[in-house]
Amino acid sequence: MKRLYVETYGCQMNVADTELLLGVFGREGYVQVDSPAGADVLLVNTCAVRDNAEQRIIGRLGELQHHKGPTSVLGVVGCMAQRLGARLLEQVPRVDIVAGPDAYRNLAALVAQAAAGTRVADTEFRSWEHYEDVPPVRERGATAFVTVQRGCDYKCTFCIVPYTRGPERSRIMEEVVREVRMLAAGGTTEVTLLGQTVNSYHDGEHDFADLLRAVGEVDGIRRVRFTSPYPTDFTDRVIEAMATVPAVCEHVHLPVQSGSNAVLRRMLRRYSREQYLEVVDRLRRAIPDITFSTDIIVGFPGETEAQFQETLTLVEEAAFDDAYTFKYSLREGTPAVRLPAPVDEAVAAERLERLIEVVRAQARRKHLGRVGRTMEALVERPAKRGEFLLGRTRTNLLVLLELAPSAIGEYHEVLLTGTTGSTFTGQVVRSQLAVLT
Ligand code: SAH
Ligand code: F3S
Repeated sequence: MKRLYVETYGCQMNVADTELLLGVFGREGYVQVDSPAGADVLLVNTCAVRDNAEQRIIGRLGELQHHKGPTSVLGVVGCMAQRLGARLLEQVPRVDIVAGPDAYRNLAALVAQAAAGTRVADTEFRSWEHYEDVPPVRERGATAFVTVQRGCDYKCTFCIVPYTRGPERSRIMEEVVREVRMLAAGGTTEVTLLGQTVNSYHDGEHDFADLLRAVGEVDGIRRVRFTSPYPTDFTDRVIEAMATVPAVCEHVHLPVQSGSNAVLRRMLRRYSREQYLEVVDRLRRAIPDITFSTDIIVGFPGETEAQFQETLTLVEEAAFDDAYTFKYSLREGTPAVRLPAPVDEAVAAERLERLIEVVRAQARRKHLGRVGRTMEALVERPAKRGEFLLGRTRTNLLVLLELAPSAIGEYHEVLLTGTTGSTFTGQVVRSQLAVLT
C-alpha cells in the first residue's frame, strides 16, 4: 500500500480540495498517513493570498524535504503552486511536482513522471474542471464542506485568486444535491457551500436561491451555511430563500474590505459603502437575529488616515459580530501593483492594531447583549481548554460546553452563561436527541 501525506494551508476551499486530493490518490490505492517520514508522496496544498502565507510555506517545504526518502515524491499544489509554476522547481530543489488547482486529476501521472526522475509543473487552467467523478474523502462528522463553484471572475485589484484558481464555474445543481444526499446518509447534518463569490452561483438553469432551497430540503440536513458571498449578489430571490428555508443559518460572512468609497473604487469592488450597508440592512430586515462577519484590508495603496477612519466607523455602523483583518500584501501580477502611493509598513501595522481594537470592542458589545439567551448549538469538537467541548450556534457563535466527548455531533439547546468578548460559556438546558431519533 502506498502512503500519502498531506498538509493544507489557507481557506476552506483548500480544505475541500485536500479532500478531493485524498479521493484522487485513494483511487490509486494510497492510504493517508499522519507523518511525512516514510510517506511515498508528500503534498503541500498551498495559499497565495498574502506574502506571509507563502513565506511560511517556503519555510515548511525546506523542513519537509529532509523527511523525503530517496524514492518519495514531494509535490506542491494549490494557489501558490499555480502562481509560481515552474519557478518553484528552481526555488526549492527537492520539490518534484508543482500542480495548480485544475491539475489534480493528473496527479497520479505526474507522480509517475517524478518517480522516473522528471520534475514537472502543470498549471494549465481547465475551465470545465469540477472533479465531478472524484468522490472527496472526508472525515466522518456532522459538518462538511461542499464546493459548488470554482474560480473567480471578479478581479478585485488586490487579489491573486482569479489568477490562481482561474475562471468562475458552477457545478450542476443536481450534482451538488446528490453529494449532499450522500453526506446526509452518512450522518452529516450541516453543510457549508463553498465558492469565491458563492451567491453568484448559476449552473445555466438554477441560481443560488434554487440551490439553497434544494440543499435545504435534503432529508437530514439541519443546517446550511455558505461562504463567501459577494455583497452585490444578494438578489431578492436569494434573501427570500435564506429567510424561508429553515435550514439556512442566520449568519453571513460578507467581506467588505474597506469603508471608504475611494478605496473601494481603487479595489474595483462593485459597491459603495452605502450600498454595502444597504445589503446588510436588507438581510437584517428579512432575517431577524442574523449575525455578520467580514474581511477587512488596511493599508491598501493610497489609503489616507481619513479613509482608514471610514473603515473604523463602518465596523460600528454595520455592527459586525466578527471580522478577519489583514494588512495589504502586494501580489505580483495583480492590477494593484500599478497603483501609486503605497502605505508605509509601520503606518499599516499601526492601523491594523487600531482596527482590531475597534472590531473587538464592537464584538464584545454585541456578545454581552446575548448572555442569558438560549440557542441551539451543534457540538463540533473538543475545545483547546481540555475539559470542554466547542459548540456552534446557527448564528456562528462559539460556546464552550461541559459535555462528554460522546456529545460531539449532537444538537443541544444551550443557555449562554457568559462571554470572554469573543467566545461564550454555556449550559445545556435541553437535549434535542429525541428529535433526531
Ligand atoms: N472570494 C473572497 C475572498 C478570497 S481571499 C471574497 O471576495 O470575499 C480572502 C480574503 O483575503 C479577502 O476577503 C481579503 O480580505 C484578503 N485578501 C485577499 N488578497 C489580499 C491581499 N493582497 N492583501 C491582504 N489581504 C488580502
Ligand atoms: Fe478575490 Fe475579489 Fe474574487 S477578493 S476571490 S477577486 S471576489
